[in-house]
Amino acid sequence: MSLTSTAAAHPNIAFIKYWGNRDDRLRLPLNSSISMNLAGLETRTTVRFEPGLERDLLTINGEPASGDALVRTVTFLDHLRRMAGTPLHARVVSATNFPAGAGIASSAAAFAALALAGSRALGLQLSERQLTVLARRGSGSAARSIPGGFVEWHAADRDEDSFAESIAPPEHWDLIDCIALIRTEHKKIGSTAGHALAGTSPLQAARIDDAPRRLELCRTALLRRDFSAFAEVVELDSNLMHAVMMTSSPPLYYWAPESLAVMKAVADWRRENIEACFTLDAGPNVHVLSTAQYAGEVKARLETMPGVQAVLSSSPGGPARLV
Ligand code: DP6
Repeated sequence: MSLTSTAAAHPNIAFIKYWGNRDDRLRLPLNSSISMNLAGLETRTTVRFEPGLERDLLTINGEPASGDALVRTVTFLDHLRRMAGTPLHARVVSATNFPAGAGIASSAAAFAALALAGSRALGLQLSERQLTVLARRGSGSAARSIPGGFVEWHAADRDEDSFAESIAPPEHWDLIDCIALIRTEHKKIGSTAGHALAGTSPLQAARIDDAPRRLELCRTALLRRDFSAFAEVVELDSNLMHAVMMTSSPPLYYWAPESLAVMKAVADWRRENIEACFTLDAGPNVHVLSTAQYAGEVKARLETMPGVQAVLSSSPGGPARLV
């Protein structure tokens, strides 16, 4: 056994969001979610377990990592060591091909790649479903970066039941995510802290109660490639999550003034019959989803908007893979 393995995974954008856990340590979400992997953007990670190494070492984009990133990685590797029954420490070398701090959630791709590379390095033969459960322990949204294309992650009470699976392959629908980059600095309150605050909002219970209905609307719209139904539920779901964020204690305001300007412009474009809708994660950048037919026009319009620094675009991506 070589004790080393390399894997690559894409980040993903959620259409129906994950915000709040029933168990923060196990990352068991309160509601199921749906997302699309982002082709072209990826994290590539090599894990090497080494006899004689006294602690885990992490390098991200060529720099030795410490602090929160290292603590999360060590916690994850501890879990893997328990699964494989080994005391060995590891060297983890990870690199992303999208700008660090571009405001694209990097933990999803990072923990999906780490779960695949780390489990293979230790000789564990996990099914795709088991890999999603493993990746989830590192970052909830990482469960959705293991399967390919359009993915649903199921909420459940037990660790082994909260897994993700593909609901349609990448070729199913030619959606493009045009990411309008508005601020690229690191957010002050990350997702993990945000999930823990979700329950302090009086709106969270209503968001969770209605989640199965939105999930069903989104899944059906996706499977039928019905853009107008899709746009309606995706924007509603993003706004609901941000309403919860803004009414938590302390309140979390992730939008910038320029984010709102883009959101309003996208709604206007839809009235011109351009297929476009918005969604925002825990940050000010706006993900504008459109179909391939309209993506060029959408990207060009976004690039002329004040406050938009750059626009990345991505089509539906495949599963996490060994390299
Ligand atoms: C707003 O998966 O990043 O992007 O489990 O603490 O790592 P942790 O949180 P994370 O949360 C993602 C939150 C979101 C919505 C989503 O992707 O569903």
